[in-house]
Amino acid sequence: MSKLNNNMQSAAGQLTLSNQDFDTFCEFFYRHTGILYESSKRYFVDKRLIGRIEATRCNSLREYLTLVRLYPDKAELQSGINVLTINETYFFRDLSQIECLAHRIIPELVATKKKKTLRIWSSPCSTGEEPYSIALYLLKHWPHVDDYEIEIYGTDIDTSVIEQAKKGIYSERSVQGLPPDILKTYFAELPGRTYQICSELRNSVSFEQLNIVDPKKTRAFRNFDIIFCRNMLIYFDEKSRKIAAEAFYDALTPGGFICLAPAESMSHITSLFKLRTFPGVTAYQKPI
Ligand SMILES: C[S@@+](CC[C@H](N)C(=O)[O-])C[C@H]1O[C@@H](n2cnc3c(N)ncnc32)[C@H](O)[C@@H]1O
Repeated sequence: MSKLNNNMQSAAGQLTLSNQDFDTFCEFFYRHTGILYESSKRYFVDKRLIGRIEATRCNSLREYLTLVRLYPDKAELQSGINVLTINETYFFRDLSQIECLAHRIIPELVATKKKKTLRIWSSPCSTGEEPYSIALYLLKHWPHVDDYEIEIYGTDIDTSVIEQAKKGIYSERSVQGLPPDILKTYFAELPGRTYQICSELRNSVSFEQLNIVDPKKTRAFRNFDIIFCRNMLIYFDEKSRKIAAEAFYDALTPGGFICLAPAESMSHITSLFKLRTFPGVTAYQKPI
């Protein structure tokens, strides 16, 4: 009977997952990503997970999880993570926050800075629109852009989005929020109504795979002035949010800022940061 439960086929012969399978997988996925999928995400998880189980020619979740554990270099674990993350993003998403960065936060930071450097980290960056948006906006609107050495990093747990970010090729939907002059100046139109960001900008952002809830890996990320962490913590449980918040705290220089998405709040996660309010925008600051 248990064999039947673990290896259920629908009448059409397609694999289906039991409630127990769903719980087992979500627990496994949580341990590796910090993401806690609830039953409201059942359809999404089932569809993507069944796709991976079938692609690897496994007959059940149990077989698939054994394969994930044995696969060299954890390659199938990474493929599973890649299909099960939600990567929604686009250029100039929540523009008011980037405006606040350029016109309020950065001027405040550089007023007391001795070195002419600025280190900015977009975590998570998904396919790269967020760090590129920051670079584009600063290039156009921050008058001191040439006086500072600006380093922008983008990291994400998903290796497929990191590869896309490095290529910098985007759909029409992704670039639709950009002003036409920016699109014309900094992007090349490619066949199939896609747009590639210019090589100067591609070279100005460094992309890397990183799991934010893996303290052994986040330890390498230090001395950032600004962190954008938007639309990721909503998928985490309380424990993962705390781990991420501590990683960001350690990565920031004293006085550095972290910006979350408008619907997110650091105050519910930790008291490590000071709440800062600017017109229409909330940010959090590491105390000096
Ligand atoms: C909805 S996107 C947000 C992208 C961008 N920050 C924005 O707001 O437009 C969420 C991203 O979080 C990434 N993510 C989820 N868990 C992660 C983890 N543990 N470490 C790093 N990135 C993670 C996903 O791969 C996904 O690309």
